[in-house]
Amino acid sequence: MTILQPALPDRFQSMSDDDVHNLIEESKRKLGDRCVILGHHYQRDEVIRHADFTGDSLKLARIARDLTETPYIVFCGVHFMAETADILTAQHQQISLPDLQAGCEMADMAETWDVEASWAEALAAGAGKIIPVTYINSKASLKGFVGDHGGTICTSGNAREVIDWALSQGEHLFFFPDQHLGRNVCKAMGFDTEKDMLLWDPKKPLGGHSAEKIRTTRIWLWKGHCPVHALFTLHQIQRLRSEKPGIKIIVHPECAMEVVDAADMSGSTEQIIQAISNAAAGSIWSVGTEKHLVERLAANNPDKDITSLNPYTCLCGTMNRITSRHLAWVLDDLVEGKPLRNPISVDQKTAASSRTALDRMFNIL
Ligand code: 13P
Ligand code: SF4
Repeated sequence: MTILQPALPDRFQSMSDDDVHNLIEESKRKLGDRCVILGHHYQRDEVIRHADFTGDSLKLARIARDLTETPYIVFCGVHFMAETADILTAQHQQISLPDLQAGCEMADMAETWDVEASWAEALAAGAGKIIPVTYINSKASLKGFVGDHGGTICTSGNAREVIDWALSQGEHLFFFPDQHLGRNVCKAMGFDTEKDMLLWDPKKPLGGHSAEKIRTTRIWLWKGHCPVHALFTLHQIQRLRSEKPGIKIIVHPECAMEVVDAADMSGSTEQIIQAISNAAAGSIWSVGTEKHLVERLAANNPDKDITSLNPYTCLCGTMNRITSRHLAWVLDDLVEGKPLRNPISVDQKTAASSRTALDRMFNIL
């Protein structure tokens, strides 16, 4: 995705950190309930401290849907999250993404035209009824495709329930774009990774399989992944277990299967926060997810020993693009009466189809 982010004006670049934070607070006071700031758990501390609500993808989607009276929502997260908020809100509401280049590398691994081509190939191979499910980390156009084809959307917080529903509706589950989330959840449900699942490589005819294999395999996993969560390995877990007996390992389900299998727990960012907040004082934790969240967990739980599973930086570079200076700029424009900066708007047809898919998800839970 190539979207050009206008350069921050000099004024916002040269301000001191304190002035930036004071300006944000003053703007928030002036805007009152006309503007709400949402912050994903991977955002920088300098941004999260100003968020009205923080959460994982599921929680933030629900909050956006329920903010029916708020004209402006500033989404400090990544592009697919802001698109989802736009889909879930009314025409009179507007969503801003403070840095337009805050995309998601995983979402970019499932282009809708590739999905459409694969879908047609699978049908031509004689596959039975296919239920498409896309992880919320996907483009609005893919959410729309899924909505138009009887499918739905999941997040890391509800994937098991959604996949259970999808498998009850058809003969095949086609899961986009995160192979790891799909594999981890289906394995936990009792499916065999070899017999019941195949990896669909969109660069190969029929995903790299025979028509017979396609027809007889229940679960098709799109070949996508998160480059940040690919940095956690089984070796890191083994090393830590020998160095720190009694350590608890918790990882995000975007990690590879061998990592999730070797961990004590896996869950969405919100579920990781809850597990650690509820843990006993003195407990030792290693966490396999993005660096900002792990560092915040360590700071907020001084009674526990919390470190990252990967001793080197596991940073989501796109989440990291949004700074308090971008936020100050968006809010200042609103205070000045200018049009909302960096609006994210999904065309009405795509939004309607995506909304169908999202409403199916909300109805499952
Ligand atoms: P959560 O929904 O668990 O917050 O995950 C979002 C994400 O992008 C993880 O990489
Ligand atoms: Fe996307 Fe991975 Fe970043 Fe999450 S951590 S937003 S999946 S690139």
